[in-house]
Amino acid sequence: MTFPQRRLRRLRRTPALRRLVAETRLNPDDLVAPLFVREGIDEPRPIASLPGQVQHTRASLRAEVKTLKDLGIPAVIVFGIPARKDPMGSEAWNPDGIVQCALRDLRDDHGDDLVLMADLCVDEYTDHGHCGVLDDRGDVDNDATLELYERIAVAQADAGAHVIAPSGMMDGQVFALREALDDADFDQVAILAYAAKYATALYGPFREAVDVTIAGGGDRRTYQQDVANGREAMEEIREDLAEGADMVMVKPALPYLDVIARARAELDVPIAAYHVSGEYAMVHAAAERGWLDLDAVAFEHVLAVKRAGADMILTYFARRLAEALA
Ligand code: PBG
Repeated sequence: MTFPQRRLRRLRRTPALRRLVAETRLNPDDLVAPLFVREGIDEPRPIASLPGQVQHTRASLRAEVKTLKDLGIPAVIVFGIPARKDPMGSEAWNPDGIVQCALRDLRDDHGDDLVLMADLCVDEYTDHGHCGVLDDRGDVDNDATLELYERIAVAQADAGAHVIAPSGMMDGQVFALREALDDADFDQVAILAYAAKYATALYGPFREAVDVTIAGGGDRRTYQQDVANGREAMEEIREDLAEGADMVMVKPALPYLDVIARARAELDVPIAAYHVSGEYAMVHAAAERGWLDLDAVAFEHVLAVKRAGADMILTYFARRLAEALA
């Protein structure tokens, strides 16, 4: 045999050969669609920073979810925008609050045929925009916040959520929620922990989507993870699993493929990754300028997240990808 070998291109020669040897395949089953529902509007409202995404009315949410289900998407995660915000975020656990109403609608429509996930946090509901209640010094009070989270979990489970997804990054939140759910006879409701959630600059468009401005130009660095830390993510994940999480999430996705890969190598539980608003918006912005091919880049991003080891990807591209895969 003569060197160098001309071997590696052999299996790339035709689309059929490439399909045959593909190591990673994207499928609608991999996707979870994040959706926004807003109280007190008559028409869906486009979200400027998330092209193609809207703040739904209850009715338009039902229609959208039916379409997603028909496309084969197994799960949605719902975020609410209340008409009224207050210091505690009390609309988050109101049994007639917007997310609870929306969950009831969707459970009526689909029963157990679609997985209903509820994001659990108060930032969309507080007038100061933090993910918890503030103490006298203006810091987020961990344990006082857990009490609010417990009420929300029970309200969401009662409204029909199959999965509760706490995203506030309080210490001990998974344990508190597991206990609260079990005590209320919701022991079959699962917890998807936003375990390694970073204080990234990539949540910007989401905050526009849910009308959140953090008071005083503040940020979430005292509770979300420092973007510099990879090992610490494993501590967060192990802690959440020890507290009773059924599934864990890494968020954002693309800048943290190292974390996803490491979690995959070390753990056998389902791993979710959230391709967040800023990741989505960047692709759209570049595509609008004609600099990138939107569909090709969307596919490549989400496929890469799966290749790194995620079992499910929360992405605003869910519908677009499922349509392309159909
Ligand atoms: C908190 C929450 C956020 C996102 C999901 N849950 C925002 C934040 O932590 O500031 C961001 C999702 C995205 O950017 O797409 N409730």
